[in-house]
Amino acid sequence: MKFRRIKRRKFISNIARYGAALPVAGAGLLACNQSSTKEESSLPAATESNKLNILILGGTSFLGPHQIAYAMDRGHSITTFTRGKTRPTVHQELFDNVNMLIGDRADDLSALENGSWDVVIDNSGHNVEWTKSTAALLKDRVDLYVYTSSTGVFYPYLDSDTRENVEILLEEPEGVTDEDMKIEYWYGVMKANSELAARKEFGDDRTIVVRPTYMIGPADKSNRFIHWPVRLSRGGDILVPGKEQDPVQYADVRDIAGWMIRLIEEKKAGTYNGVGPEAPQTMPEFVREAGGAFDVSSNYVQVDDYEFLKEHDVEHIVPWIMPEGNNYGSARINNEKALATGLTLRPPRETVRDTYDWWYSDALTDEKRNEYEQDGTVVLNREKEILQDWAERG
Ligand SMILES: NC(=O)c1ccc[n+]([C@@H]2O[C@H](COP(=O)([O-])OP(=O)(O)OC[C@H]3O[C@@H](n4cnc5c(N)ncnc54)[C@H](OP(=O)(O)O)[C@@H]3O)[C@@H](O)[C@H]2O)c1
Repeated sequence: MKFRRIKRRKFISNIARYGAALPVAGAGLLACNQSSTKEESSLPAATESNKLNILILGGTSFLGPHQIAYAMDRGHSITTFTRGKTRPTVHQELFDNVNMLIGDRADDLSALENGSWDVVIDNSGHNVEWTKSTAALLKDRVDLYVYTSSTGVFYPYLDSDTRENVEILLEEPEGVTDEDMKIEYWYGVMKANSELAARKEFGDDRTIVVRPTYMIGPADKSNRFIHWPVRLSRGGDILVPGKEQDPVQYADVRDIAGWMIRLIEEKKAGTYNGVGPEAPQTMPEFVREAGGAFDVSSNYVQVDDYEFLKEHDVEHIVPWIMPEGNNYGSARINNEKALATGLTLRPPRETVRDTYDWWYSDALTDEKRNEYEQDGTVVLNREKEILQDWAERG
């Protein structure tokens, strides 16, 4: 039991650190750079008159470098604001041409006191006060505020087909004793109030809020999704958690990044759920499609008993989150508005392949890989035992 709580806590704290939808160099990197869907690549690049000066609060971790690559490719120029601690693991070469401002959202915004930009993208908004301060400081020197929120604002996920305009919680409910749930409530409420803080300063017509679901792809340091690229590459008997019809939602980080830049170019103020795939998908469908990334022989073993999975500490392997209780609707978010405004989504086999290439590239150290691949608590290393129990159980 103790073991189970630690594992769950690790996952929840990842939500707080990396965001989520909770609901959670080399050839590969070139692929990160260049992969684009038909719709994206057919768009004209910016001309001199519509080149944008973009300020990114954050920008050096997961989503940021992909936004930078897409925006620079289209002729825009980039300034980032960070503490200078996080190093990008994709598109490193582009940062020679990024104006990198150093400060701290907690207590040092001096680098942002001068200058003007067409748009600010707030990726590092993990505190309502931070967004309040930067929005207030920048509102007369920047045209548009883009807040990277999360579908986590919909927690608890009790409904299906959740649209952008449903009421969301602005206060954490009292009386919640479960520590993990408290973190999930905190994250959703923090994101919801940060959205409001941006809107309050910039107004509805100068604010874009994007609420991504789980973003997956190269540069994801959370280790939430890496199970699938590593596991699917090995073939053999592969545990597929959940019931046949369990829904999954996710989006390649590069698809979210490109779409956000296009929303900005078109100044499409509003709130958008950033959710894929385009059509509803079940977990077995996801695994089969993603498995196409590798030329190996695989046998997918569906383990569809939630109680058995809980007993074996398997309640989530992103993109699968056990869809019950407060997580019933975490993968049942409506994405019509996103699709109508140009969100295009690449197939999961492409994401899985590129993430695999990134994971085994020089961008990461052996230490980082081993931290995950030799961790006895992750499903990757417990799968054989779980499948044996499953077989014995009949
Ligand atoms: N990952 C997902 O699946 C997911 C899903 C939904 C929503 N989101 C949201 O997406 C957003 C983007 O996440 P990301 O990891 O891709 O962001 P990012 O912009 O790529 O990286 C986070 C950045 O914040 C900077 N930072 C952290 N603390 C700071 C501070 N005190 N002052 C100044 N800068 C600071 C980091 O640089 P330094 O460390 O150098 O300061 C880093 O550049 C987040 O708001 C997250 O909540 C993520």
